[in-house]
Amino acid sequence: MDTLTWKVSSLDPDPELIANAAEAILDGKLVAFPTETVYGLGANAMSAAAIEKLFTAKGRPATNPIIIHIVTRAQLERVVSSWPAEAEKLAHYFWPGPLTLILPKKNAIPANVTAGTAMVGVRVPDHPVALALLNKSSCPIAAPSANLSNAISPTTAKHVLSGLSGRIDAVLDGGPCKGGIESTVLTLSGGVPRILRPGLIDRPTLEMVLGKPVLEDVNSLDDTQPLSSPGQLPRHYSPKTPLELVQGSGWLRVERLLEAGRKVGWLTFGMAVAQDRSHPRLVTRPMPADPVAYSTRLYAALHELDAENLDRIVCAEPPDRDVWTAIRDRLKRAAGQAAEA
Ligand code: TXA
Ligand code: MG
Repeated sequence: MDTLTWKVSSLDPDPELIANAAEAILDGKLVAFPTETVYGLGANAMSAAAIEKLFTAKGRPATNPIIIHIVTRAQLERVVSSWPAEAEKLAHYFWPGPLTLILPKKNAIPANVTAGTAMVGVRVPDHPVALALLNKSSCPIAAPSANLSNAISPTTAKHVLSGLSGRIDAVLDGGPCKGGIESTVLTLSGGVPRILRPGLIDRPTLEMVLGKPVLEDVNSLDDTQPLSSPGQLPRHYSPKTPLELVQGSGWLRVERLLEAGRKVGWLTFGMAVAQDRSHPRLVTRPMPADPVAYSTRLYAALHELDAENLDRIVCAEPPDRDVWTAIRDRLKRAAGQAAEA
């Protein structure tokens, strides 16, 4: 199939194009759209057939459940069968925004959305294009990140097309996403809130709002257990080029690889450029020292380096601090290492 591109203003999207997209989704088609985190690949969450197409287009294993996006209370009520006071509190503070809540699902939600489990992930995205689409389509929209399974999430329509052109019906191109990495996934089941995937909202912030401890459950998985959140597989969010995480600026490792004749990509902090460490076989991407700005840049930088046919990407490890947790998690997964204990 030909994938259509509908270019829209990110602040004030053309209602006619939004109507086209909403109609396509209601029709069971797949339409990618920008959110504040990354581009999502949308499908009608109430249609098992549309969801089936999502899995096929992404090459996604059927065991990996999909987040449902909503905007109205009416949509929320079609998705979750229970709405505890803690969920209301979190939604009040963080929605629209990058927080996905895992809650018991309504029967009408097709089983393939939740990979056969009784729990569903739900969030309200904070992006005018996503919100316009949700308001127009009236149905809740299931949307995983709009990339082939295990590849880097897309933060531009170009990234979406580089992986999924010909496999999806359309993309709403609303420019680059601001957030850059995915939402925090939080489960409220079992009495103690647990983070299943670190994301743009960090643990201390959730604890502040809930007034109680929040656990990080990202290491609880092993091969013998069913996955509680398959985004937590050790290797996920990966560039095609092998990536190494190193302490310090990474220059010593880069130099070694260059001496061995390798073509190297280098993700590091600003100073590298100031010191003019250039080389014909080196592609450097200096990254911001601020975690919010770093998140915005990260996937685009990985997409750019991946397009350079490099032998290796060397990445300077960011500081071991709460505000860097989600970024460190994604980098470790890009490097194919399990998350730190
Ligand atoms: O920011 C985001 O969350 C983006 C945008 C498009 O909303 N979406 C996204 O979706 O990252 P995806 O499919 O790439 O990752 C969803 C994560 C996976 O780790 C999945 O296992 C987990 O959320 N998840 C979804 N539904 C779940 C459920 N019912 N129970 C446990 N984990 C769930
Ligand atoms: Mg994904």
